Amino acid sequence: MKLLTSNMKMADVVHSNYLLMPVITRFGIPMGFGEKTVATVCRKHRIDVDFFLTIANAFSNENYFPEKKLQTFNVLMIVDYLQKTHAYYIEMQVPLIEKLLNNLLRRRPSDAKNLKLIKKFFLDYKGELFNHLEREETTTFPYVNKVYRLFHTPNPSTREKRALSKYSMHVYEEEHTDVDEKLYDLKNILIKYVRGDSMNELYQEVIFELFRLEKDIQDHTRIENNILLPLVEEMEDLLFYPEEHSRRTAGKNALAETEIKSSVRTEIHRSEPAKGVYQVPQGVPKPVKQKLEGLTSRELEVLQLVACGFLNKQIADELSISLHTVISHRKNITRKLQIKTVAGLTIYALLNGLISSKNMS
Ligand SMILES: [Fe+2]
Ligand SMILES: [Fe+2]
Repeated sequence: MKLLTSNMKMADVVHSNYLLMPVITRFGIPMGFGEKTVATVCRKHRIDVDFFLTIANAFSNENYFPEKKLQTFNVLMIVDYLQKTHAYYIEMQVPLIEKLLNNLLRRRPSDAKNLKLIKKFFLDYKGELFNHLEREETTTFPYVNKVYRLFHTPNPSTREKRALSKYSMHVYEEEHTDVDEKLYDLKNILIKYVRGDSMNELYQEVIFELFRLEKDIQDHTRIENNILLPLVEEMEDLLFYPEEHSRRTAGKNALAETEIKSSVRTEIHRSEPAKGVYQVPQGVPKPVKQKLEGLTSRELEVLQLVACGFLNKQIADELSISLHTVISHRKNITRKLQIKTVAGLTIYALLNGLISSKNMS
């Protein structure tokens, strides 16, 4: 795909890829560009043309991601773009998907029971995503701002530096989870296991918007991990470890890291279903007789327990097999079903009657 340039018309940017419209809006550029070029529009709205083009090109081309170039931009400009992207998810894209799901349910589809499960999955995901965004808004971005200010302060005092020691980009790196995996699972489950019937268009609209959100979030995460993170780490090294700024010391902030790692573990486990909410129904024989997606009976048993919230060690004990075997079964299940998350596996198991919910009708 040809790269977007500063002398092309802004209208042609949209013609080249209409999915760029929300990206343009994020820069505060209203529609109605007339015949104006990208350079003219950006100048009018006081936007760095180079930054706009780099972001737009990276969004449009999977293979175009000039890390070195992106790292030359002002970090506050990058944070500003990321914050506007958060606002777009919170105010526009997530509510839109929720509205589409509600529209579908209001039309009383024949697959309403399964669709309710899908909606629950989406609402759980929404909660996780919003927590993720809030953590960045209230902790990471303010921290980046402070590091930037201090970095540009001549001779910052030790007290000023110490005030920033409670957080670091290393902590961010540790806690920064993938927020697009569940979206992939949701799409996959909708495409494969929920019947569209007479409302195929509405179903497709939901799936289309999920694709859009997933693509946008992947792009956003790539900027956070590959641009924001190394840029701020570099400033941290120069500020706090000037004599060895090329690589941060392994032992620093050991205590803080331990504390954060444990909170990260809590975060990860929080998204898994609480054991006891779901159960293997009485009617399902053991070992399971059904053959789903080529899963073996043992894999179905493991899947049931995973979906009920059992951890690997508990599954090993329950089925009297080794931990290694459980992990191997789980890898096979993920590969065969193409469902990566525990929440996704739970929905799959519910849709296929492998487990039942104590709390859901
Ligand atoms: Fe973010
Ligand atoms: Fe993030």
